[in-house]
Amino acid sequence: MQEQWEHRLARHKDELEWLFMELYNDRAALDALEAEMFAAYAGRSAELRALDADREKDPDWYRRGSMQGMTMYTDLFAGNLKKLVKKLAYLQQQGVTYLHLMPLLKMPHPYNDGGYAVEDFDTVDPSLGTNADLAALTKQLRMAGISLCLDFVMNHTADTHPWALRAKAGDPVYQNYYCCYPDRTIPDLYEQTVPQVFPNTAPGNFTWNEEMQRWVLTTFHPYQWDLNYRNPAVLVEMVKSMLNLANLGVEVLRIDAVPYIWKTLGTTCRNLPQVHTIVRMVRMILECVCPAVIIKGEVVMAPRELAAYYGTPVKPECHMLYNVSVMVNLWAALATRDTRLLKAQLDELNALPEHCWFINYLRCHDDIGWGLDEDEERRLGIDPQRHKEYLYRFYDGEYPGSWARGELYNYDPGTGDARSCGTTASLCGVETAVEHKSDAAMDLAVKRILLLHSAVSFCKGTLMLNSGDEIGQLNGWDYKDDPNRADDSRNLHRTVFNWRKAVLRRRPGTLQNRIWQGLAELRTLRSGPCFEPNASVTTWGGDNPAVLAMVRRGGTHRLTGLFNFSEQPQTVHLDSPALLGVDAAIYLKPYEVKFL
Ligand code: GLC
Repeated sequence: MQEQWEHRLARHKDELEWLFMELYNDRAALDALEAEMFAAYAGRSAELRALDADREKDPDWYRRGSMQGMTMYTDLFAGNLKKLVKKLAYLQQQGVTYLHLMPLLKMPHPYNDGGYAVEDFDTVDPSLGTNADLAALTKQLRMAGISLCLDFVMNHTADTHPWALRAKAGDPVYQNYYCCYPDRTIPDLYEQTVPQVFPNTAPGNFTWNEEMQRWVLTTFHPYQWDLNYRNPAVLVEMVKSMLNLANLGVEVLRIDAVPYIWKTLGTTCRNLPQVHTIVRMVRMILECVCPAVIIKGEVVMAPRELAAYYGTPVKPECHMLYNVSVMVNLWAALATRDTRLLKAQLDELNALPEHCWFINYLRCHDDIGWGLDEDEERRLGIDPQRHKEYLYRFYDGEYPGSWARGELYNYDPGTGDARSCGTTASLCGVETAVEHKSDAAMDLAVKRILLLHSAVSFCKGTLMLNSGDEIGQLNGWDYKDDPNRADDSRNLHRTVFNWRKAVLRRRPGTLQNRIWQGLAELRTLRSGPCFEPNASVTTWGGDNPAVLAMVRRGGTHRLTGLFNFSEQPQTVHLDSPALLGVDAAIYLKPYEVKFL
């Protein structure tokens, strides 16, 4: 064992120590970090060690076309962790191989930002179960071929975390775990350059704490206190907890809000170089202690910022990142019937080096933030602000002729900025079709849903569904009746899973059945050679902006996908059709998808 440890550590020791000392210049803290690493390595179960060995031999395991993710809240889907174990067959029926459970560690109630305010990074929230339940679940999942992903909320703790409690009680050691200031001098300086995340629901970046008589940095909500990573003790403690989750059997760590973890006056406090130093260290730590575990970065940034979070092939950081840009551009293309921005975005992402890998998704627990590429918009003659306003008005259903039902999130009348909430089905028109009792409208809504799923399935990366989307679950407007949930419109799409409706997936012709079958067909497609980890994906030019064309190549195989983003029939002439082996002019019905 000792030998294996030394062998693994030797690969990274120099770089790890160099980076740590560069950041902290604190030998004792470095020793403490290495001690935690060894303790976690020694504490890893035989089963997880075997997994480590398998994954070291098969580093592409998460890149296969057959990998399919799903994200969900434990309580909304099953009630608690124990009950979730009983629902595994349902996940297997859908080919789920990767399950992202929304935060489930100890959190304050009722205000916890969907679990992103953590009170204890080492303990499961009692409302969901125990650590033993979690370990039992990961074991069952592994047996079912499903890897568990959990969030690791790096940027902040709940203000009820024991560190925060000690800080409030006046302990300077713990006040140094956060960014606390006795007066507004420093906070005011920060406010000059740091943008706001929730301008509407949580304005400003600092919160006054009466007990402590200090301002504390709270980038997100007032009850989420930003950690101070300039203090090496914070990093050591957080790494310890991260490794603890790995040893409970977690295989993918979603590092939450990672661009925000380092703060420097005079900057936006996003994407600073020290963030990359820390992520690189985390990657090396995991490779030493538990190489089966990979990192998914939550980096909601433009592609230019995003790529840096992969690091380089020699010094990699995250294994995968959310494909936020493609998600947003898919929804934008659907509302505008224009795929030009989407294509430009795909071209930019497809040009990234081989080691860059995405999680592709349509919806998750968060809103859709309309972060489009403004330079590209201007190049195409699109006014970015008016385009954004059109999109959020379209998806909240206000825009004349809109089929969508959704809501705004964090509307800021000052800047005219807003994001959108809603489930895939409601945003695609199912809710409107039900209201109007229109079969024709329902038919179009289902086609839109399958169009989006098909397009996102074709992109480079691992596919992830949002639980409920597989049965076309609608918005849950009743969140407004719950005073604890009413002020966050993201709750519109955070709904209790409808098991009654799920039964209908077996009845031909139902909404549920049509979506379920459509997804099954896409799964079959993704098991083909053009979806191998090293397959290439490119877009293909055409003369019709309503139609997106993509090509996948795996070995000698080739697959062309054509996606009509319009409710009108379209004809497209592709550039160099002979090269693709397709006809010169291709006809597509409304929202039709063709694979050639
Ligand atoms: C991430 C989560 C989001 C949460 C935020 C603050 O962005 O996805 O739901 O509000 O972090 O923790």
